[in-house]
Amino acid sequence: MHNTVLTVAPALTDEELNALFAAAWPGHRPAPFARRLAAHSLTWIAARRDGRLTGFVNVVGDGGEHAFVLNTTVHPDQRRRGLGVRLVRAAAEAARGRGATWLHVDYEEHLTGFYARCGFGTTAAGLMRL
Ligand SMILES: CC(C)(COP(=O)(O)OP(=O)(O)OC[C@H]1O[C@@H](n2cnc3c(N)ncnc32)[C@H](O)[C@@H]1OP(=O)(O)O)[C@@H](O)C(=O)NCCC(=O)NCCS
Repeated sequence: MHNTVLTVAPALTDEELNALFAAAWPGHRPAPFARRLAAHSLTWIAARRDGRLTGFVNVVGDGGEHAFVLNTTVHPDQRRRGLGVRLVRAAAEAARGRGATWLHVDYEEHLTGFYARCGFGTTAAGLMRL
């Protein structure tokens, strides 16, 4: 893992993000990531190994105390080596640096242990499909 480098809010291309998401998220459809990050994100973290994008996490904010972690993603061939936890912890640190004091996330039940390792406590929360 030593040669996996994490960077805060680097320039990323739609091509490399779509390639990572296509490998990691079943049913992914190409998205205009670069434009969305520039317009809507508080910050984001990218992981590269030998130049290849192997991990990503996005953070959006309300401009005040609250920030939300979205799309935590590790390439399937790089999983279970601690990269996901490194990404989310780096995202928390970057969000704190941008002035947020609360970090939110939602996830499927089986990832409770993963997000606990990242430093999250649990709370009641809601989610609505629009
Ligand atoms: C979830 C994800 C980001 C985890 O990345 P990762 O680099 O494999 O995670 P880590 O190696 O840091 O995992 C740390 C610990 O979290 C837990 N964990 C990680 N992935 C898990 C999974 N799929 N199911 C259950 N527990 C998991 C384990 O306890 C793990 O420790 P261990 O490997 O010693 O058992 C990755 O599997 C992924 O990209 N999944 C597809 C996209 C997705 O569902 N993202 C989550 C959105 S909420």
